[in-house]
Amino acid sequence: MKTHIYLMIILMVLSQSLSAQIDMKKAIVRDRFIPGEIWLDNNGIHINAHGGGLLFYKDTYYWFGEHKTTGRAGNRANVGVHCYSSVDLYNWKDEGIALAVSENINSDITKGCVIERPKVIYNRKTGKYVMWFHLELKGQGYNTARTGVAVSDKITGPYFFLRSLRPNANTWPENFTEEQKNGPNSEEKMTPWTEPWLKAVREGLFVRRDFNRGQMSRDMTLYVDEDDKAYHIHASEENLTLHISQLSDDYLSFNGRYTRIFPGGHNEAPAIFKRKGKYYLITSGCSGWNPNPARSAVADSIWGPWKSLQNPCVGVNPQNNLGLEKTFGGQSTFVLPVPGKSDGFIAMFDMWRPNNAIDGRYIWLPLEFTDDEFKVPWHDEWDLSIFKKFPRRCQGIIQSNLRGFRFRWSLQLGDFATAMMPTFDDSDYCTCPFAGTDD
Ligand code: GAL
Repeated sequence: MKTHIYLMIILMVLSQSLSAQIDMKKAIVRDRFIPGEIWLDNNGIHINAHGGGLLFYKDTYYWFGEHKTTGRAGNRANVGVHCYSSVDLYNWKDEGIALAVSENINSDITKGCVIERPKVIYNRKTGKYVMWFHLELKGQGYNTARTGVAVSDKITGPYFFLRSLRPNANTWPENFTEEQKNGPNSEEKMTPWTEPWLKAVREGLFVRRDFNRGQMSRDMTLYVDEDDKAYHIHASEENLTLHISQLSDDYLSFNGRYTRIFPGGHNEAPAIFKRKGKYYLITSGCSGWNPNPARSAVADSIWGPWKSLQNPCVGVNPQNNLGLEKTFGGQSTFVLPVPGKSDGFIAMFDMWRPNNAIDGRYIWLPLEFTDDEFKVPWHDEWDLSIFKKFPRRCQGIIQSNLRGFRFRWSLQLGDFATAMMPTFDDSDYCTCPFAGTDD
């Protein structure tokens, strides 16, 4: 009997210390980014939001991404789109599944389809949150090349799936010439990847081929400009050309205005941001889950012309010895402008683990600007204080900065913007609240 009591006491002590350990693990408070490492959420579980994007709302960041499961099959959408929230960008709370796959085999988003690169934007006019994502119908590989849209009244969801489609059916791109409209629309008698074929692609072969059916849409992102106009940017034309399409005022459909950029340039994984009136893109080449060199581009208008810049990556990721030639082992997905930080932009990349999809990692790195160009330097670890490297003396113009800030954010994010104030780091400097307003 005595032995039993001792055993029970030992077991109780052991279990208490074990649960204390688990709680400690849960309670780890992060104060920095460690690119490429396991990133635990508030439950001590690796964050599951791949190919993701962020939305900042009422002092909180929301991270939406692909919920992956284990193994190779985990690349398919078995669960849906996962949402996390954070007030500091380091520590993330699991908000659950924002858009769930459907059990109905007739639904476009039936379990086992492909849902990739979900992004959420807020529509000030309708007060709705709108999610778009790359969708491949179940059992058809990557051939259907569609985009899907879902909507919610609540930022964390649940989002209701509206429809999937191929954008811009029966509509020509704005930068298509009359001659291009009348060119050949079939690849017949052409050998793929030969110079004549590439030339035909650049001249719009696939745009004409898909004119009636709608343009292909695979890797995608969204962007809301300061005038509230929203854009859907996606890899089209067999991933050979990027399309930038304007959305309707409610952000739930396409309004028929679109343009082709870098025809035949083979770009995907687009991530866009705006700084000081200029638009920037980070993209990758097309090599599936395998990393390749990142590209970047700049334009004065989102409609172009876009000018190629260099591969922005600098340094080497010691975890895999990969540098700019393989984007540190990652692929771009989003660029976050950090409110309250001068020139504070974070580039987000995915390190895919296609054989065990759930183990994919995240690389978040700060951008560094020189004039109109930017770099993405590798950091083993870093925190938001890095953006203090860029402060300018802005005493005296702080009021106009403040107005600029409020104006911009209220346009972009709605009425809660007034809650945001600039951050003063010390008496001499202020961290100007929105990149691009500090001069
Ligand atoms: C990549 C793309 C990913 C995923 C993958 C599938 O090129 O960026 O989002 O679609 O291909 O192989």
